[in-house]
Amino acid sequence: MAIITTDIDLIALHLSQGKLAAIPTETVYGLAGAATDVQAVSRIYEVKGRPTFDPLIIHTHHIAALDDYIVAPSGLALELLRTYAPGPLTLLCKRKSTIPDLVTSGLPTVAVRLPSHPLCRALLQRLDTPIAAPSANPFGYISPTRAAHVQLQLGDRIDYILDGEVSSVGLESTVLEVRDGEIYVLRQGAITTEMLATHGVPVHVQTSASNPRSPGMLTHHYAPRTPLTHASAAELLDQHEADRIGYLAFEAVPEGLSAKCVCTLSPSGSLPEAARNLFHMLRQLDQMDVEIIGFEYVPDHGLGRAINDKLRRASAGRS
Ligand code: TXA
Ligand code: MG
Repeated sequence: MAIITTDIDLIALHLSQGKLAAIPTETVYGLAGAATDVQAVSRIYEVKGRPTFDPLIIHTHHIAALDDYIVAPSGLALELLRTYAPGPLTLLCKRKSTIPDLVTSGLPTVAVRLPSHPLCRALLQRLDTPIAAPSANPFGYISPTRAAHVQLQLGDRIDYILDGEVSSVGLESTVLEVRDGEIYVLRQGAITTEMLATHGVPVHVQTSASNPRSPGMLTHHYAPRTPLTHASAAELLDQHEADRIGYLAFEAVPEGLSAKCVCTLSPSGSLPEAARNLFHMLRQLDQMDVEIIGFEYVPDHGLGRAINDKLRRASAGRS
């Protein structure tokens, strides 16, 4: 079992010695290691069970701290950073050779993120190098939004988990690239396409697995172990007993289902609340003794698009 702690000095020392620790961010918890230490980075892939063709994000507290590692962003890229960082934004930047190939899977770009989570920022400020950190879940499983989620799945593979309580956003960062003065969204998140559209340039959403500019955007992703399917309560009740059906509802418990097997993302219909609850509730449903988990999509605007994208991927091949 890993030790769960709030001692940032201890975690900073551990990371600077080339070891791994799980850290909180406002999006999801990350599995962190020094980005400049090839052995630490290689251990990240190993602990996560992640293929090395899927590159990692580097995290820092201030963009100037990356001067030695990336070509300084300018123009629209800089405008986006100024607007949304620190926060749930990841921006692809041109990398320098000081970033190991293993971090970027050999790509000429490196994904950069400045988390806003206070404890995470305080930790990053104490470090001399950027931190590589994928979400702290086994590859293909649901991302963790609490220290306890990490403990359950990676607790036997790492020494420490820095406890930053519940991640306030609850979905992974929006991954963006600026090309030819236009914005390309490679992964949807809390920086929504509506927000990006205010910058007065075309915004392209390119998150399909058929065009994996972002190699991590495999269709089948974020999946719980119990089959997850987009279906109404009535459709599920045709084939299963009520108490064998788990259900992820948006606002209200659908008629006919057993309330103890239903998780409601936001009784008040709030998309930020739904985002915050999504991964925790998928985990709760996955731990229930049910045959199938059904879900309904949430309203498809703003943050709802990112939530629906996760639901689509989590259920891919099954509905
Ligand atoms: O919110 C987040 O971004 C969390 C927290 C811990 O910061 N991290 C996270 O990392 O979600 P990960 O590794 O689970 O997802 C990173 C995504 C993957 O889809 C990966 O393919 C993409 O970013 N990515 C990383 N570097 C890239 C690059 N150079 N070009 C294109 N896509 C890249
Ligand atoms: Mg991930």
